[in-house]
Amino acid sequence: MNMKKIAFLLVATAALVLVWHPDFAQGELPQFGRDPAKIIIKNMTLEDKIKIVVGKGFSLPGLNMGANDTTPDKIFAISGHTIPILKFGIPSISMADGPSGIHRWAMTAKDTAEGKFSTAWPVGTLLASSWDTALIRQVGVAFGEEIKAYGIDFILGPGANIHRNPLGGRNFEYYSEDPLISGASAAAIINGIQSQGVGATLKHFVANNQETDRNSLNEIISERALREIYLRNFEIAVKWSHPWAIMTSYNLINGTYTSESPDLIHTILRDEWGYQGVVMSDWFGGKDAVAQMQAGNDLLMPGSPPQIKSLTEAVKTGKLSESVLDRNVEDILNVWLKTLTAKGYDYPNNADLKAHARIARDAAAESMVLLKNKEHALPAHSGASIALFGTRGYDLIAGGTGSGDVNKPYAISLANGLANGGYKVDADLEKSYRDYLADYAAKHPKKNMLLEIMNPSPPAPEYHVDKRIIDQKADASDIAIIYIGRNAGEGNDRRVTDDYQLTGAEQEMITQVSDAFHAKHKTVIAVLNIGGVIDVTSFRDKVDAILLAWEPGEEGGNAMADVLSGKVNPCGKLATTFPASYTYVPSAKNFPGKEFPEKATTTVMGRSVPAEVIYQEGIYVGYRYYTTFKVKPAYEFGYGLSYTSFAYSNLTLSSQTFNGQLKASVTISNTGNVAGKEVAELYLAAAKGELDKPAEELKGFAKTRLLKPGESQTLTFTLNAEDLASFNTVQSSWVTDAGKYDIRIGASSEDIKLIKSFNVGKRIVVEKVHRALAPKVAVDELKQ
Ligand code: BGC
Repeated sequence: MNMKKIAFLLVATAALVLVWHPDFAQGELPQFGRDPAKIIIKNMTLEDKIKIVVGKGFSLPGLNMGANDTTPDKIFAISGHTIPILKFGIPSISMADGPSGIHRWAMTAKDTAEGKFSTAWPVGTLLASSWDTALIRQVGVAFGEEIKAYGIDFILGPGANIHRNPLGGRNFEYYSEDPLISGASAAAIINGIQSQGVGATLKHFVANNQETDRNSLNEIISERALREIYLRNFEIAVKWSHPWAIMTSYNLINGTYTSESPDLIHTILRDEWGYQGVVMSDWFGGKDAVAQMQAGNDLLMPGSPPQIKSLTEAVKTGKLSESVLDRNVEDILNVWLKTLTAKGYDYPNNADLKAHARIARDAAAESMVLLKNKEHALPAHSGASIALFGTRGYDLIAGGTGSGDVNKPYAISLANGLANGGYKVDADLEKSYRDYLADYAAKHPKKNMLLEIMNPSPPAPEYHVDKRIIDQKADASDIAIIYIGRNAGEGNDRRVTDDYQLTGAEQEMITQVSDAFHAKHKTVIAVLNIGGVIDVTSFRDKVDAILLAWEPGEEGGNAMADVLSGKVNPCGKLATTFPASYTYVPSAKNFPGKEFPEKATTTVMGRSVPAEVIYQEGIYVGYRYYTTFKVKPAYEFGYGLSYTSFAYSNLTLSSQTFNGQLKASVTISNTGNVAGKEVAELYLAAAKGELDKPAEELKGFAKTRLLKPGESQTLTFTLNAEDLASFNTVQSSWVTDAGKYDIRIGASSEDIKLIKSFNVGKRIVVEKVHRALAPKVAVDELKQ
């Protein structure tokens, strides 16, 4: 036989094997997990394919918003399931919120217990304040174990949107105002979660930076601000952690819903970043199912009967090519194949909540930020008697509301945490506060769960403690703690009055307590249990110390006590700025934008009012603005105190000129009396060139190990070409200008300890990208 004949026979046999697959020969259909997705798709009807790209519907205990399939849900009361196609062996895939722990849509106490409890982890903003990606990864690993133990395939988190404005209602779910720390934190938790064989869902792609009009908001953003700020965090997370899923956001960008944007999903996410996972919509997000399919938003969640109808008609009338569906189905099946459900994993439906509580407590304590500590007011000496003022001191805000809430077993208040830590909490005060809270709860029963999610009942107003009692407590106790609580969540942004700013009752409490205790030379400490930035300027001079606990998860009170007592030396730093006034926030005059009520419509999510917001601050978000325009914040980005002190020395660069990569190292020494960890931050001041450039940008960060007094550690940072580049819109390129660059190593964005320069010989075009997501109108952006 000559070679040609052999080759022909080989090809013919291969073709026969494909066509006459032994199983197909017996009349069976190809099976998921055994046959390649492409073969399954070939055997699918149009109806089958549409069942893959549209979810099972939104039906929760006692609520059915349109089901596409009647198979019972595999997991009780979670946000989403997909439709199984049993003839191909394709299982139903399950998805649960959210970024800080598993959320169950439990309507009743019975539901809550049946749905099983899950660990409430510290929220994203707190985790990011650790500046410790190893710690965040560790939380992710434990979180992943829990997701796996409960048989869930995908967690609907993390959320990595940028803190554009302090009033953003979901900021607590997100990490930071800076894309590097947001992206690195998201990647760390995703890597941890996915190490357990379950999927993470990076959301909300992209620029879901406010809740007001979130389903109808057109955001007008320049290409440069998108590339450098709002997309950059997602780019880092995608490239460093390969999330199995990405959820598009509700908003429009420059006139197009994100879930309907081929520029965003195809061009940027898939082509430029090489993303291979599945893209799903946010729940009921976008408007046009056909446009979503064409854009590559593979999966419509939670899925509704009208979407099935519209896709079916579109294919039949030729408006939607079936090959588009095939492509999206393939994206989905390839990811479903990785799930434990597809592998037939028999989950225990029980998790080690005790072990996870320990991890949650340590992570919270290691992330809290000490904002003020006048004359070593803290740590509080062991066994001290403490008068605790402020209702939420007895009623922890573990995390935010909405889908970011967690079905947690408990939440340790500061009062309980202090008692557990051996402090004497004033019993009288405690009783008054607890009676007040119980009475308030009895008189204000909660609304039905869905209404509560979108419009949570306001918390109990601050309990009024009589001045006479405050004076008595100042006599009787060693220390006063004033506790300020703030909560928020999806569906609503926060307000300036009585939210960003303290209420009158809080101001009065702070003034009276600090006057009374200071008159007796006693210490006054403020503890902030908040989901978003508040005004601190009105009260910070009245207290001796301020501990920022953010929303610390179920073990919050214990973790706060760990830091207040010095058991854990505070080592968190701000990943978001505390401005001196809301009016100084660069986006203040463009938040939350303007509405067009005359164009209002009614949708499945309720009344929808078209709205628009212009990102006039451009790239000057957070510290990029405050440092460049020399606006002094109350507490700057990167700031945080310790019970010890650190010295920075020996900044060394691997080279004076940039040759594709540069390493910088710095030695950190503990110069104080107790062991502690320090976060060192690397900011880059880029050469002036064609573009406006911020005074400095964070390009690296590292945390030391626990250094004993006198101990030192050398930290090393690596800068690559992309770290030096800015986005040139005219050329659609990332460009590094020639000239002098400063490496600024600091303890915060303002507290720069050491500076060294290097040179870039000639202009480098680091990457040419596509023109995508361009605004249709000129954006009058802030410039220097
Ligand atoms: C939220 C998402 C969440 C989804 C499912 C939406 O309202 O924006 O973050 O994952 O609901 O509950």
